[in-house]
Amino acid sequence: MKIAVASDHVGVELRHELAQEARALGYEILDLGPAEGEAADYPVYGELVGRAVSAGEADLGILVCGTGVGISLAANRVPGIRAVVCSEPFTAELSRRHNNSNVIAVGARVVGAGLARAIVRAWLTAEFEGGRHARRVDMLDAIR
Ligand code: RB5
Repeated sequence: MKIAVASDHVGVELRHELAQEARALGYEILDLGPAEGEAADYPVYGELVGRAVSAGEADLGILVCGTGVGISLAANRVPGIRAVVCSEPFTAELSRRHNNSNVIAVGARVVGAGLARAIVRAWLTAEFEGGRHARRVDMLDAIR
């Protein structure tokens, strides 16, 4: 399983931490940047991860900006992307189990590295339950 990761300039350090967390869980990482010190607009990087997941170049995506909000909004503009911003593990887990989220965003100005790692771990170790949830996710994806 491959995970696309990206951030804006605020999220670079946390992005590396979260990539490391995902690697430790056995995932391969597709790092879409930016490099340290580069000014980086969150719409560009949110879209990059959204497109990588939507094209099947990655199975899931992890994004980081200051709040997680701007970069998740960008990813959600890509058809088929269900990006969620999470600041605690419970919502992250349920967003996989019930909403089949395929991108997670966290805010580097909102959560510390330890909590962010726990959020990503909860998200990556949860699985979509399907069943009654599948119908609702299909309804979501039908919204244009
Ligand atoms: C950049 O200053 C900041 O706006 C960005 O990281 C993010 O928080 C946007 O949602």
